[in-house]
Amino acid sequence: PGDPHPYTYEVIEQSSRFLLERTKHRPRIGIICGSGLGGLAELLKDKDVFPYEEIPNFPASTVPGHAGRMVIGLLEDVPVICMQGRFHCYEGYALWKCAMPVRVMKLTGVTHIIVTNAAGGLNPAYNVGDIMLLKDHINMQGFAGDSPLKGRNDERFGPRFPAMNNSYDQRLRQLAKQVAKDIGIDQYIREGVYVMLGGPAYETVAELRLLRMLGVDAVGMSTVPEVMVARHCGMTVFAFSLITNECITDYDAQGEANHEEVIETANKRQNDLNLFVTRVVSSMASE
Ligand code: HPA
Repeated sequence: PGDPHPYTYEVIEQSSRFLLERTKHRPRIGIICGSGLGGLAELLKDKDVFPYEEIPNFPASTVPGHAGRMVIGLLEDVPVICMQGRFHCYEGYALWKCAMPVRVMKLTGVTHIIVTNAAGGLNPAYNVGDIMLLKDHINMQGFAGDSPLKGRNDERFGPRFPAMNNSYDQRLRQLAKQVAKDIGIDQYIREGVYVMLGGPAYETVAELRLLRMLGVDAVGMSTVPEVMVARHCGMTVFAFSLITNECITDYDAQGEANHEEVIETANKRQNDLNLFVTRVVSSMASE
């Protein structure tokens, strides 16, 4: 019947209980802060901060000097729980381990999750600095037999065979587009298909051309495991990519993808992103 899953319902419950016993907030909205959104957690008021190494059963963070903590507090009066820093598959974690904090959020009472990331823009119409709302994803690692939902299934989280169409809530995308108009950033808004590759290497030209043929608009190294686990346990999902660099699909191009450019774009765009997410959260809460 497959190996027993090390993160059983009871193990996840222990982590969520730890958080609930140490904060008075009861957030319904969870946020995974990708590159460019790390500063959002700093905006929370009346916050309780939990470094990942203090939360029972959490994977150990492998990136030194990189914020790895749960921050629970008020974003303009709306209680939220933020992951400041996430777990990536390229750090050596299994996909289910990368996504385990989503289940912890679920058992703390989260019903809606906002997942963010930095991604390369593959669609030639995209510009660096754009915000791509995810309308769908391609779980490339699923093609090779891996999934965050692999292994024994616990029905208390969700069904053995969950549907994945309509994973990216239509209504929240509409709401986000309205927010973007209201704050004057609608010229940056795109809507497209995200693919996750395992990384850590960036893609070859041939790989990117292949992905383009498959209908991919943006390429990254995260988000899909968390979204799959969130959908499995019945959460409503909103996700977006900050387009931090242009994917290079030309053999004669001189430039190359690099982490510095990703971080630089993320830093440049962080004020817009913080405001965008803050307003999306406010409108979600007032619905
Ligand atoms: N490829 C994969 N992941 C990324 C990229 C990219 O070009 N940019 C930011 N994350």
